[in-house]
Amino acid sequence: MSSSVGTQEGHAESNEELYQRFSNLVSSWPCFPPALSISTSQLYRHDKGWHSRLAPMVGTMVADACFTARPSDIVVATLPKSGTTWIKALLYSTVHRREHPVGSSDHPFNSLGPHECIKFFEFQLYTENKIPDLDELPDPRLFATHAPFVSLPRSVLAAGCKIVYVCRDPKDTLVSHWSFANKFRIREGLEPLSVEAVAGPFCDGVTPFGPYWDHVLGYWRAHLAHPEKVLFFGYEEMSRDPEAHARRLAEFVGRPFGPEEDGAVDAIVKLCSFDHMIGLQATKCGKTDALTGAVDNSWFFRRGVVADWQNNLSPETARRIDAITEDRFSGTGLRWEWAA
Ligand code: A3P
Repeated sequence: MSSSVGTQEGHAESNEELYQRFSNLVSSWPCFPPALSISTSQLYRHDKGWHSRLAPMVGTMVADACFTARPSDIVVATLPKSGTTWIKALLYSTVHRREHPVGSSDHPFNSLGPHECIKFFEFQLYTENKIPDLDELPDPRLFATHAPFVSLPRSVLAAGCKIVYVCRDPKDTLVSHWSFANKFRIREGLEPLSVEAVAGPFCDGVTPFGPYWDHVLGYWRAHLAHPEKVLFFGYEEMSRDPEAHARRLAEFVGRPFGPEEDGAVDAIVKLCSFDHMIGLQATKCGKTDALTGAVDNSWFFRRGVVADWQNNLSPETARRIDAITEDRFSGTGLRWEWAA
């Protein structure tokens, strides 16, 4: 674990000083009280236009300053509640299928949740004044982030790492996030919020790592410019045809399923399916250490279906979100009629 980083002035800056420098900077940016967002803490607006609580924003900036990428690294990028757990499970089990065959008694998923197998830069690795030593990790190293494309660690782009992005209907992302955020509120003794109360800030873009539309478009444009480096999946399409997406993922990361791997794709899809993962001991009893304290792995699994927003959002709110989406996404080539 390194204890200091060089600065442009040439003197060594301790980890504490580096984190403090970024904390001071973030604290000088506009902030929104919890009452104006889905979050239980205030959100800051980064000078590149996105929002987050202080610590993950600082972690994102420390990762940008300190992470040294290898070209073989693979980074999962998502907005919260858009299928991160699922794509992490698919990526990890695909990349490691030779040393950890599906069904083996010591498969990591028997004891670890997907968020422990692939860790977030800003919630797990670059936190609490730490600069982790990641050199010992074998290739390919797998990481994750909720950071928008504009704030990815610069070395990820410089090294040409592969990036796997998943987006989801914003209405389902909102409902999922609202339900997740209420679990934290209840744990902290706060009243749960109504979904309509958080829909306004969502539409205004004041959500963790949002605005939603900027986040999606950042990765969409990167995908258009460099499809060989940025894979772009939709949660809804994954739900419709998980096997095709597992195959595309495997090809994208350079580990295509060969003809001799009879049944391997199907096995991985079943292993990572909502119905299977929700029943695992690691889901039912396990926890993931993150900035927010230990989070029950079960919190990452709710219903896992498409268009559950219909059971939660008013038609007016749904129309409002759809109108913003149409306005922001039309002409970009991004197919956004998710339920169609
Ligand atoms: P719902 O709240 O709509 O059920 P994230 O992983 O980005 O935090 O997103 C969580 C959402 O993905 C939740 O959606 C959760 O139920 C769903 N999810 C988690 N694991 C899944 C899986 N293996 N397959 C499909 N959906 C999954």
